[in-house]
Amino acid sequence: MLEKIKETAEYIKSRVNELPKTAIILGTGLGELVNHIEISTVIPYSEIPNFPVSTVEGHSGKLIFGKLGNKLIMAMQGRFHFYEGYCMQQVTFPVRVMKALGVKTLFVSNASGGMNPDFRIGDLMIITDHINLFPEHPLRGKNYEELGPRFPEMSEAYSQRLIADAKKVAAENGIRVVEGVYVGTQGPTFETPAEYRYFHRIGGDAVGMSTVPEVIVARHGGMEVFGISVITDLGVEGIVEKVSHEEVQKAASAAEPKMTLIMKELINQFKE
Ligand code: HPA
Repeated sequence: MLEKIKETAEYIKSRVNELPKTAIILGTGLGELVNHIEISTVIPYSEIPNFPVSTVEGHSGKLIFGKLGNKLIMAMQGRFHFYEGYCMQQVTFPVRVMKALGVKTLFVSNASGGMNPDFRIGDLMIITDHINLFPEHPLRGKNYEELGPRFPEMSEAYSQRLIADAKKVAAENGIRVVEGVYVGTQGPTFETPAEYRYFHRIGGDAVGMSTVPEVIVARHGGMEVFGISVITDLGVEGIVEKVSHEEVQKAASAAEPKMTLIMKELINQFKE
């Protein structure tokens, strides 16, 4: 594993002039952020040694290097989901490589189903914490001390100072944001009404099928993390409606401009 991470990092270093300290995983609702990046290098995943190969045709991902505002950044366009069949080491490999490249801060986004009755479709939820319900843990197996400790502590998985910065940016721009706990599940089914109720009762505000593995690995490596989720459907007791992938995409697209603005401003302003 260490050799692979090194090999991949060396390859990327050979193609990129200036290495960033900030990385972004462009999840659902954040695709448009690419248009705000002053791009210097694009590397398709298919060219990167040891990177997982995309399973969905026409969805070949890319690593993008460039500047967002005044920050040098790298962005993952396309992420690897556990439900696609990747193992946890594959899902989180890019985060290991980011760390090896010198990345200190990771920004992530996703779409999720809201379970908190105060939430509305289209809300942006700043992730304050998570509950890991994936059936496999990304750190299971041999621990490499070079990558992080055997038993990482998770008391502040999501950076309090970045949460405060993001709330400030939202307020300054008149954007409603909510805060909450993200429950990470494997999918690919959306939840039954009983499952939404269960996830809410155990302390979740929204549920989705990504992010938690990447955040765990980022924290294992000592990176600071900020996450934001667009609420694309509601799994609130009594009002659970049928949800489809199309509806999730539609709600995420509608919320995209405000999500983009918050991320762009936050990344521009935060202290690296
Ligand atoms: N459940 C799980 N994942 C999701 C949902 C949901 O309701 N909405 C968007 N991603």
